[in-house]
Amino acid sequence: MQLSTAKIVSPATKIAHDMGLTVTDRPPGTAPDWTIPQDWAGYSAREHTVWDLLFARQTDMLKGRASEAFRRGVEHLRLSDRGIPNFEELSERLSKRTGWRVVAVPGLVPDDVFFEHLAHRRFVAGRFIRKPEQLDYLQEPDVFHDLFGHVPLLSDPVFADYMQAYGLGGLKALRLNALEKLARLYWYTVEFGLIAEPGGLRLYGAGILSSFGESQFALDDSSPHRVKFDLMRVMRTRYRIDDYQQTYFVIDNFEELLHQTRDADFTPLYAQLGKLPDLAPDAVIGSDLILSRGTQNHAYRGKFQ
Ligand SMILES: [Fe+2]
Repeated sequence: MQLSTAKIVSPATKIAHDMGLTVTDRPPGTAPDWTIPQDWAGYSAREHTVWDLLFARQTDMLKGRASEAFRRGVEHLRLSDRGIPNFEELSERLSKRTGWRVVAVPGLVPDDVFFEHLAHRRFVAGRFIRKPEQLDYLQEPDVFHDLFGHVPLLSDPVFADYMQAYGLGGLKALRLNALEKLARLYWYTVEFGLIAEPGGLRLYGAGILSSFGESQFALDDSSPHRVKFDLMRVMRTRYRIDDYQQTYFVIDNFEELLHQTRDADFTPLYAQLGKLPDLAPDAVIGSDLILSRGTQNHAYRGKFQ
């Protein structure tokens, strides 16, 4: 079976740009904030079946691997109901818990639009779903990645605050021309983060949770490094765009993530980062708290950013 290593995981242009994609003008029919109706009634039976297939396979794979917050979120939001979720109904359940809503967008959106939505507790999601022959590979984030991967965590009050803080931080990073550094924080937490739970390491990053191949690799493979999360270290570290990660960063809890992001003044941090060299995705540095040092034996493909 082909394992998914595609890395189109965010509709924001910084990360998409790394993958050679560019955002176009706002498509006709979209609102000024780039949202569109989900048109839930327009999904075919075949498309709902693809969701059910992906959901069943990934839920099985994630047993004993997904974070407690993810498992609670899937239950609270009733994501196990059959078929592609209706964004309106999902948003009703989600907003009762944390005030977040899910809105549909046609594809890539400009960075400022993406961050504005996050800052107002709106998560932008693709409405299309991959085709049956694309279960393990797709070019852009689809509704399975966006809903299954991201939305359960948004029902956790602390993670929900972190995502909003990230959106506000993104708007600031745009003003300070520091998006390259901040995008790495999103990458290594929201998309590819691991969390240390009493039973061992668990997954909370959406890019891993929605990937059949990476949900095994990130926890079980001997190749990647697993290093304790450190904000500055993460913002210096380049990432793999078209293969599994060479390093995963591990948090102890979401409070730590929220505290380091919302309560920090990033202006001096960006100034400091400007004087420090970037780090390769497989780098290990003296200040690292290494939880497991990887062999880096995986045959990594392509380039990194
Ligand atoms: Fe994503």
